[in-house]
Amino acid sequence: MTLPYEKYLQEVLIDEQTLQARVAELGAQISIDYAEHDRLLLICILKGGVMFLTDLMRHIIVPHEIDFLAVSSYGRGKRASTGNVRIDMDLSEVVTGKHILIVEDIIDSGHTLRFVMDVMEARGPASLKLCTLLDKPSRRTTEIAIDYIGFQIEDRFVFGYGLDLDEKFRNLPFVGVVRQEALTGE
Ligand code: IMP
Ligand code: MG
Repeated sequence: MTLPYEKYLQEVLIDEQTLQARVAELGAQISIDYAEHDRLLLICILKGGVMFLTDLMRHIIVPHEIDFLAVSSYGRGKRASTGNVRIDMDLSEVVTGKHILIVEDIIDSGHTLRFVMDVMEARGPASLKLCTLLDKPSRRTTEIAIDYIGFQIEDRFVFGYGLDLDEKFRNLPFVGVVRQEALTGE
């Protein structure tokens, strides 16, 4: 039987076992780094960060809160972001005085996270750090410091494990490379 995602999949880039092992390592490292911090707030960037957040937090033994921020960028095609980022859904928690760790799926140009970091910094957190599952450094056009990186990958369009292909297939337990033919018609 052919599963619906298979026709879009060129190859599995990071399999489930490798992903889960790395997420566990990140959670263990974060637990060490925040051991002395009693006001940790994980902020998941929707929608892509949701799978990563729910797995990561299982490995963070420091008591913490979670919250969600939905942002979107617009202006240059659906697979490339610009500096035009806006908040679609804001946090429900206060940031001021808390140790904030942003949890994101992928950093590409860096525009989305540059915007998010600037907005959060302005709200006066006790500290502000960034954790991304995937990093595409060759695509960066805006400087951004990343504190925790799951995997650095090449400039290929990927999907699965929170990342979408036209809003679908976020549920896949692995990260796969999209077949080039599936990306035409932008
Ligand atoms: P940036 O603002 O260019 O860093 O874009 C970040 C956002 O673009 C991510 O949060 C994703 O939603 C999306 N994105 C970038 N690369 C990919 C990819 O390879 N697959 C799926 N989404 C991606
Ligand atoms: Mg995203």
